[in-house]
Amino acid sequence: MSSIILNAKGLNKSFGAVTAASDIHVAVEQGACIGLIGTNGAGKTTFVNMITGYLKPDSGVIEFDGRDITDLIPRQITQLGISRSFQIPQLYNTMTALENLEMSYGVISLIAHRGSLFTRTDDIVPGYGKSIRALAEESLEKFGLSAYRDKVTRVLPGGVRKLLDIAMAMAVRPKILLLDEPTSGVSAEEKFDIMDMVMNVVRSGGTTVMFVEHDMEIVARHADRVLAFYDGSIIADGPPQQALKDPRVLKYIVGESQAASVVGEAH
Ligand SMILES: Nc1ncnc2c1ncn2[C@@H]1O[C@H](COP(=O)(O)OP(=O)(O)OP(=O)(O)O)[C@@H](O)[C@H]1O
Ligand SMILES: [Mg+2]
Repeated sequence: MSSIILNAKGLNKSFGAVTAASDIHVAVEQGACIGLIGTNGAGKTTFVNMITGYLKPDSGVIEFDGRDITDLIPRQITQLGISRSFQIPQLYNTMTALENLEMSYGVISLIAHRGSLFTRTDDIVPGYGKSIRALAEESLEKFGLSAYRDKVTRVLPGGVRKLLDIAMAMAVRPKILLLDEPTSGVSAEEKFDIMDMVMNVVRSGGTTVMFVEHDMEIVARHADRVLAFYDGSIIADGPPQQALKDPRVLKYIVGESQAASVVGEAH
């Protein structure tokens, strides 16, 4: 028996004449790892933004854990257990990698200590049983970032910045993690290692994942389900072996040869 953790029902979103989401229906099973694919402007980020409260759909309903979250703001949605990373990492650029993570755990600590406006890095984060500093260091370690602990993030390579952004998104211990292009701006050599690292860490805790990705090899390697976006609609939804060979996906998103190389020949 699988359980539905997230249910998007009939989402629509337009920007003037542009339809960025058209009657989107997606029921996400707990523990799934879903790849979101589609050409530029297909509506992938719009979908992620609607789920995480950064955009309000014009119509439709989003349920998380059986609760209607359609009208909640991002902060409320994060607190319920949906976290995200961004297409462009949202880091504190003048702070070190360690300090960035300490900010994440520090905020969690402050929220837990309602009313308090002060926290120190040796404070134990309620519910976590460890100090802000210890949690930040543990996270650097898990994501293979310890070597960058004391480096100011502005100077860090793209892949490291991406990993740090994802590590920060994981600080809230989300039930669902949405990753918007975790490998964009990352060199081809680094991409696979980074995704292997992310998926290892994130999925070992049972977190449900949705990730936007343009590289079909990475999609086929990690996703157990693919949602293909085209012009604001979902044109295919299924396991990679099936979705990446869908005729419309082949026509609009993935070349025949590319599909064949990642999931085998169509016939
Ligand atoms: N805030 C906005 N204002 C106006 N138009 C927008 C806005 N956000 C998205 N759009 C438009 O909606 C459509 C879908 O955009 P979206 O960012 O969701 O695409 P995407 O699939 O994430 O593309 P990419 O692969 O380039 O990131 C595009 O035509 C885009 O220009
Ligand atoms: Mg996008």
